[in-house]
Amino acid sequence: MPKDAPQPNGGPAAGGQPDGNRLGFALSEHLEACARTLLDRHMERSREWFPHQLVPWRLGRDADPQVEPDTAGPPESTGVRSALLVNLLTEDNLPYYFHHVAQAFPDDSAMNEWVRRWAAEEQRHSIVLRDWICVTRQLDLEALERARMHQVSTGFAPGVRAESACDGLVYLAFQELATRVSYRNTGQQVLDRAGAAIMNRVATDENLHFLFYRDMATAAMEEDPSAGMVALDRQVTNFQMPGTSIAGFAAHATAIAAAGIYDYRVHSDQILDPLVRRHWKVESICGLDPAAEAARDHLLAWMARVRRVADRLEDQRVREPSA
Ligand SMILES: [Fe+2]
Ligand SMILES: [Fe+2]
Repeated sequence: MPKDAPQPNGGPAAGGQPDGNRLGFALSEHLEACARTLLDRHMERSREWFPHQLVPWRLGRDADPQVEPDTAGPPESTGVRSALLVNLLTEDNLPYYFHHVAQAFPDDSAMNEWVRRWAAEEQRHSIVLRDWICVTRQLDLEALERARMHQVSTGFAPGVRAESACDGLVYLAFQELATRVSYRNTGQQVLDRAGAAIMNRVATDENLHFLFYRDMATAAMEEDPSAGMVALDRQVTNFQMPGTSIAGFAAHATAIAAAGIYDYRVHSDQILDPLVRRHWKVESICGLDPAAEAARDHLLAWMARVRRVADRLEDQRVREPSA
C-alpha cells in the first residue's frame, strides 16, 4: 500500500495546535445541549465490562529469556500481528489525544465531561489488548515495550490543525468509524477465540464513540452548513491516522492492507461513502456559500480519486497476487 494510505487504529485526536495553547472552542447553547443529550445516550447504551474477564490467563507463563519467543495458542497471521501492534500503540497514545481533545473545550462543558469518560473507555482498550498479547505472546514483548516507550515519549497528533470545533468533531467521527472497522476486520481473522471476542468487544465501544462524534458533527454542520462543508473537506482530504508515527509503519500498513483488514477499498466503501454521501448527503446540501461550494467540489473529486486508487490496487492484486 502506498505510504500515504489511510490507516486505522485506536483513539482519535481533535487536531493539535503547535504552540500548545488551549483551543477553547465555545460551543453554542444548542451544541452544548446536544453534547449533554448524546452523553446521556452514551451512558444508557454503554455496558460495563471487565478486561480481566476476557483474557485467557491460563495461557500465560513466566518469560524465559533463554528461550526464543514463542506463542501460546494458534500463531496469528502477519497482517493480524501488524494490526495488533498498530492498534495497541495507538491506544497507548491516549495521553496525547486526551491533551488535545480536552483542551479544545471548557472544563465545565458537557463536551469536556464526555472527553473524560471517553478517555476512561479508551484506556480499557489498551489494557485488554496488552493483557491478551502478553499471555498469548503474539508479539515480541520486548520490542512492543520499546515501541510503547517511543510512542508515548514522542506523542502524536494529526498534522492538520482543527480550525473549528466542527473540524475536530468530523475528524473524530472518521477516526472512530475507521477504528471500529479495523477492530471488526481484525476480529474476523484472529484465530484465538478469546482474542476474537476482545476485538469485537472493543469494536462495540468504538461504535458508540463513533455515534457520539458523528451526531455532534451533524449538529454542528446543520448549524452552519457552509463552515461545516469547509471543515469536512479540510479533514477528509488531510485525514491522517495516529499510526503513521509508529516505526516501520509503512511495512505494517502493507501487511494490514494485504490481509484486507484496512486499505483504500475499505476506507472508500466503509468509511467515506457511508458518512459523506449517505449520512451527511453532501451532494444535496443547498444554500452553500462560494467557498463551501468549492470545498464540496474538492471533497467529491478527492473521494473519486480514492475510489480510483482502490480500483487500481485491486486490479494489481488480481494480476500479481503475491505483490
Ligand atoms: Fe480505542
Ligand atoms: Fe474510540
